[in-house]
Amino acid sequence: MAIFMGKLPLYQGAERYDNAMKICVALFSLACACGAANLTGRWVASETLSNGQKRETTVALIDEEGSLKGFVAVRNPMLIVAGHVNGENLSFTILRESSGVETRVDCTATVNGNELKVTIPNDNNRPPTVLTVTRVSTDKPAMPAPKIALSNDFPAVKYNGLAKTPPMGWNSWNKFHRNIDDKAVRGIADAMVSTGMRDAGYVYVNIDDTWEGQRDANGVLQSNEKFPDMKALADYVHSKGLKIGIYSSPGPKTCAGYEGSFGHEEQDAKTWAAWGFDYLKYDWCSASQVYDVKSLPAVYAKMGEALLKSGRPIVYSLCQYGWQDVGEWAAKAGGNLWRTTGDISDRWASMMHIGFELQQGRAGYATPGHWNDPDMLEIGNGGMTDEEYRTHMSLWCLLSAPLLAGNDLRDMRKEILDILINREVIAVDQDPKGVQAVRVAKDGDHEVWAKPLRDGSQAVGLFNLGKEPAVVTANFSELKLSGSHSVRDLWAHADKGTMNDKFEATVPAHGVVMVKISK
Ligand code: GLA
Repeated sequence: MAIFMGKLPLYQGAERYDNAMKICVALFSLACACGAANLTGRWVASETLSNGQKRETTVALIDEEGSLKGFVAVRNPMLIVAGHVNGENLSFTILRESSGVETRVDCTATVNGNELKVTIPNDNNRPPTVLTVTRVSTDKPAMPAPKIALSNDFPAVKYNGLAKTPPMGWNSWNKFHRNIDDKAVRGIADAMVSTGMRDAGYVYVNIDDTWEGQRDANGVLQSNEKFPDMKALADYVHSKGLKIGIYSSPGPKTCAGYEGSFGHEEQDAKTWAAWGFDYLKYDWCSASQVYDVKSLPAVYAKMGEALLKSGRPIVYSLCQYGWQDVGEWAAKAGGNLWRTTGDISDRWASMMHIGFELQQGRAGYATPGHWNDPDMLEIGNGGMTDEEYRTHMSLWCLLSAPLLAGNDLRDMRKEILDILINREVIAVDQDPKGVQAVRVAKDGDHEVWAKPLRDGSQAVGLFNLGKEPAVVTANFSELKLSGSHSVRDLWAHADKGTMNDKFEATVPAHGVVMVKISK
């Protein structure tokens, strides 16, 4: 007020003084109103992403005398746990979940009339997200329902006795994505038999996401129009001497946006059992919208119990991208296998990163009935060379990984089939001892992985991840072997003779020589 007063001319009489005071009071009220404008309401930005999809970001604010609550929502709402307004500047802290871990992120914003320019820092040295949201409402926004927190101190789910060796079969996602239907699944089952894959050990025909329809009046989940009769389909697959698998999510929606099992766990398990399903892949997807992510093990145990209660033996496959040290608790939650990473893609770099880099330190968790899952096979999908697919198959077998073919079995080259059904290589994966290989040597692009087998021998992969053929050496000392040993090439089905101290071979670029070394 003193400032405004100072700028006024000297008063000359009572009337001038009175008018001057009126102006001062009016200006002062206006200044106060601007500085303290209440920010409560919804502020929204719509963007078109490079892939053409639209993305809407909402900043929902509740401004209580300069102290802020609310949330920021891109897909899932991130709660504002603290915040305040200082003139036109805002600072607030949101809870952001990334890879199964919740972190506090300090954000800032500046208000300018109906626009708010928000700066949200990002992980991994990525530049912050800066976006301008426009006010669309001044109503107090409804806060999202509090997330459900379950105790992870749950009794261990009883082992279902299944998957004594890593499950083998096929899954629809890698090749078909959403374009899967009853007809294609039947065709795959036929091909599984006619190609000899069933006889090589591939048993499960697994339908991934996008089979789900709506729930009926009693909450019973139905399949959608692509799958007119799930029981009939299961009967068909069983009639071929095969088993059948299904997919769901603990969240309200699956990753592809279909109906999930949230709140219907036991009911869905019973439905699948009644249809005759033998395998469930349970994919976290939207579950973070309803559950505190720290509850993830307990959420998986819930379905583990539900499957046991269904009365049908159902292999339980956890798909939670390796979050929260999954190997530590997956078996306790009833899991027979659990994903260790995000999704694989049909590219050398993806397969190599997942297989060679992200599986380190996990071998101790694999035992008969319980397996690390580095994701489904991409063999035959066309994005890698046959040599690279052989490397993929060899490593997955050494890792005691589930072998779920992900290609179109109705239409595959002989070379691809030969990679998938090489019995000596599959025998390494299916060895009843159930020990997962570890990397015993690494020299630049050359790696040696070894897996102890029940008969006392070792399966050994000599890998060349480089771009030129190279000699790779497996030293017996690194395999904890001494003296002479016989070596058999598992891809060539050929005995290589007896070796002392080491075995070495010329390995093609991005390729493998896989052997069994026995006394
Ligand atoms: C996630 C899983 C994939 C697949 C899709 C289906 O991305 O990791 O394996 O199941 O969902 O939507």
